[in-house]
Amino acid sequence: MSTVAQKQLPLRPAGPATVERLLNWYDAERRELPWRSPPGKRAKPYHVWLSEIMLQQTTVKAVIPFYRDFLRRWPTVTKLAAADLDDVLAAWAGLGYYTRARNLHKCARVVTEDYNGRFPKSEKELLKLPGIGPYTAAAIAAIAFGEKAAPVDGNIERVVARLFALQLPLPSAKPEIHRFAASMVPGDRPGDFAQAMMDLGATVCTPRSPSCLTCPLQPDCHASARGIASELPRKAPKPERPNRHAHAFVALREDGCVLMRRRPPAGLLGGMLEVPSTDWLTAKTTLKKALRTVPVASEWWAVPGVITHTFTHFRLHLQVHLAIVPVESSLHLWAEPDRCSWISRHKLEDAAVPSVMRKILLHALKNQEA
Ligand code: ADE
Ligand code: SF4
Repeated sequence: MSTVAQKQLPLRPAGPATVERLLNWYDAERRELPWRSPPGKRAKPYHVWLSEIMLQQTTVKAVIPFYRDFLRRWPTVTKLAAADLDDVLAAWAGLGYYTRARNLHKCARVVTEDYNGRFPKSEKELLKLPGIGPYTAAAIAAIAFGEKAAPVDGNIERVVARLFALQLPLPSAKPEIHRFAASMVPGDRPGDFAQAMMDLGATVCTPRSPSCLTCPLQPDCHASARGIASELPRKAPKPERPNRHAHAFVALREDGCVLMRRRPPAGLLGGMLEVPSTDWLTAKTTLKKALRTVPVASEWWAVPGVITHTFTHFRLHLQVHLAIVPVESSLHLWAEPDRCSWISRHKLEDAAVPSVMRKILLHALKNQEA
């Protein structure tokens, strides 16, 4: 007889033994991260919440210094609630997605005022707080309170899709992946389970080349058995990120101040400082037209090169212009002088300036010094 039938290896269903192997692996191999408590101890809710909000759209490596800085400045949720929003936004600068920082501050106030400074324990109550969505509510409930919740982030999504060889493409596979993940959560260590899956996804079951040979889940893994691990999870094709273009105007005053404009409170980078620019449009604005919108009458130089910044929904390409202006220069009316102010370069360092704006300033100032 032929041996073709051997192709299908016997697989155990993922069950308590699978989870136990994963937890043993975690106990030996877990990443030491500043928001994690030592094995067997539960992490403080404030620490878990703060880290989870920061980790929502930012990598572990980038988050660590910000996390430490926040804890040093505001060691408790009550202290954070008492902080000035501007100070919180400034400390957040560099992490991006500033809505998170506004919600962080709002949430600290709600927890302080309505919950006596203690985070609620259940997923359902956590979900009601500003900035806490289903993933974060589940993560805090599991990690900080030992509730049997199943947070599913990108790493966990990948591990689960592979372990069960789920073929549906993302994002439609999300509910199914969540069901499978939830079916595995152990009642005694839900937080460690979640973080073990995250660590496994980050270090072993990596997107391009999973290390199945060293993986604690390998004996039960359907994708590995079928040799399709790196193909999963399947993904529906992404719509292309559209391009937008604008001209940005860096007016540098002789006393070292830069002209900055406050963005409208709602929308992208709401309420943040920006370098005045033409509207961010799909079509390029001609140089001639752009120069009619300069905020200050002066000699403007086009700084060589184009700055590109990628936002979630589009890519922005900026031609930067620089002018060195005398201290007494006045703004054009169309520069919306009520939204504009001269800010010293020194102060800008710690102000809430989005990273795209920092890029523009650096580009202009480097050129000016060259
Ligand atoms: N990403 C989101 N939450 C995390 C956590 N608790 N540990 C590691 N990576 C994470
Ligand atoms: Fe991922 Fe391979 Fe482990 Fe399966 S065996 S979970 S594919 S690393």
